[in-house]
Amino acid sequence: MCGIVGAVGQHDITPILLEGLKRLEYRGYDSCGVAVHAEGELRRARSTQRVAELVEQVKAETIGGYTGVAHTRWATHGAPATHNAHPHFSGKGGAPRIALVHNGIIENHDELRAELTEAGYAFESQTDTEVIAHLVDHLYNGDLFEALQQAVRRLQGAYAIAVFCRDEPHRVVGARQGSPLVVGLGDGENFLASDALALAGTTDQIIYLEDGDVVDVQLSRVWIVDGEGKPTEREVHTVHLHTAAADLGPYLHYMQKEIFEQPRAVADTLQDIDTITPELFGDGAYKVFKDIDRVLILACGTSYYAGLTARYWIESVAKLPVDVEIASEYRYRVSVPNPRTLVVTISQSGETADTLAALKHARSLGMEHTLTICNVATSAMVRECKLHYITRAGVEIGVASTKAFTTQLTALCLLTLALAQVKGQSTDDMEEKLLRDLRHLPVAIGAVLALEPQIISWADRFASKEHALFLGRGMHYPIALEGALKLKEISYIHAEAYPAGELKHGPLALVTDAMPVVTIAPNDELLEKLKSNMQEVRARGGELYVFADSDTRIASGDGMHVIRMPENYGKLSPILHTIPLQLLAYHTAVARGTDVDKPRNLAKSVTVE
Ligand code: M6R
Repeated sequence: MCGIVGAVGQHDITPILLEGLKRLEYRGYDSCGVAVHAEGELRRARSTQRVAELVEQVKAETIGGYTGVAHTRWATHGAPATHNAHPHFSGKGGAPRIALVHNGIIENHDELRAELTEAGYAFESQTDTEVIAHLVDHLYNGDLFEALQQAVRRLQGAYAIAVFCRDEPHRVVGARQGSPLVVGLGDGENFLASDALALAGTTDQIIYLEDGDVVDVQLSRVWIVDGEGKPTEREVHTVHLHTAAADLGPYLHYMQKEIFEQPRAVADTLQDIDTITPELFGDGAYKVFKDIDRVLILACGTSYYAGLTARYWIESVAKLPVDVEIASEYRYRVSVPNPRTLVVTISQSGETADTLAALKHARSLGMEHTLTICNVATSAMVRECKLHYITRAGVEIGVASTKAFTTQLTALCLLTLALAQVKGQSTDDMEEKLLRDLRHLPVAIGAVLALEPQIISWADRFASKEHALFLGRGMHYPIALEGALKLKEISYIHAEAYPAGELKHGPLALVTDAMPVVTIAPNDELLEKLKSNMQEVRARGGELYVFADSDTRIASGDGMHVIRMPENYGKLSPILHTIPLQLLAYHTAVARGTDVDKPRNLAKSVTVE
């Protein structure tokens, strides 16, 4: 999704801006650009290619300067084209005066566009961002900080903005409302970015701006006013950023690397925990867990599927009722709030706009007990929730979430145990067994990863298909959903997931000998039911690809392909069964030659609604 970097320095800051864009690349984008203040004029380069191409363009055109902004754009208003790429310029008659980048969506852009056209501004793009650039120029009266404060009062929607002006060479001004923006503090130089990661290697001193803040960034001064225009101080955090994540090692893609990192990621997430206590989730967790009588999980995409899986665990182990809601729906639904609810958000990035908005909505309904399971300790989600558990997956670069999902499940299993303990549903035996299984999980995942060669042979067959069905039952149904999402997002094969018992209520009509049906077959209480559902598929000529526990007595045969899972993993079986589905999606996508790490139209961190 869109990324912002801005800098004011005493040397050419273009390399810092471009390096920042490279660090944000993994979030997904379809065009990029940079603008700098160069000897009294604004210069810019924009591209619909990768940042590497932009770097070449900047070199070829010898663009450099001491002040500037840069951007990666994920198109919302206007196609991914050079004229729509940021930075956008503004300035009436003659040379441009304002250069501006923006993340988010301006909802009243039509009205502002009409007004600014009337005022004599000509628009070169279809973006809502160009509206802000012209608005700032229109309001500019010698003080950019003042102009941006006035401009944001006219904006409706979500934004993070960075802007500089030809007439004030050592100043970049920023504003945030609903879209993240941080300030990086340097020595005689200062920075702005939409994510602290963009500044890794440049500075570790970070200020997280809050909604409504407008910031004036100069060489040796950073000045912030809040939404009411009052000068305000924001805490400076020392942030340890991982710069090593970008090394691919022996892998072809980040997704493959991240799949194989799962034993380590799960082990790190467990952090040598030897006893379960509510305080694993933060100070005061015991009191919160004691007070609540239900759980509401809010999340999107893969994180939502982690929530669906956790429902089976929390309801069966801690005996608490659980609702799991897609964040983008929940925030607009009229629901019946209960103040004794534990609101759990799940997010890899911690910046997903829909999940953050759903969290705020839940709070506005009087539900104050909030907890997040999140992979980024410095994210808005962690700062917005009272309690948290940080998954230690490490930076996930592939757009398709893999290690973030299995570490979320690991954390949710710990949460289940902590809730069960406080609610008096835990027995020593049960707690010990689950903890033992959790500790053994990295080894068990390692054994599943060893199935890769068998999965590659299936992937070669899937590569020529256009549709696939995924079946699971009980707590493996969300895993079937996750398997289908992985396959569709990176291989572009249309895939659907169903609880196997639901087939005969409609989707069975799709089954022919051209339809591969991936089935998750653990040896659990639903196994015999699942076998009957598999027969329904075979009877219609459908080809089954089954990941079966070794003790299920499901064998390969006519139209039936079976890969045996190394061990039956009881309650944690959904975590193990996720791994082969990730590998199947990955190798199918590789066989089809898609851009595995940056699938078309998708972004890593979805910071717009
Ligand atoms: O960062 P989040 O976990 O909040 O992101 C939620 C979804 O956007 C994300 O899981 C998405 O579905 C992934 N591309 C799935 O692989």
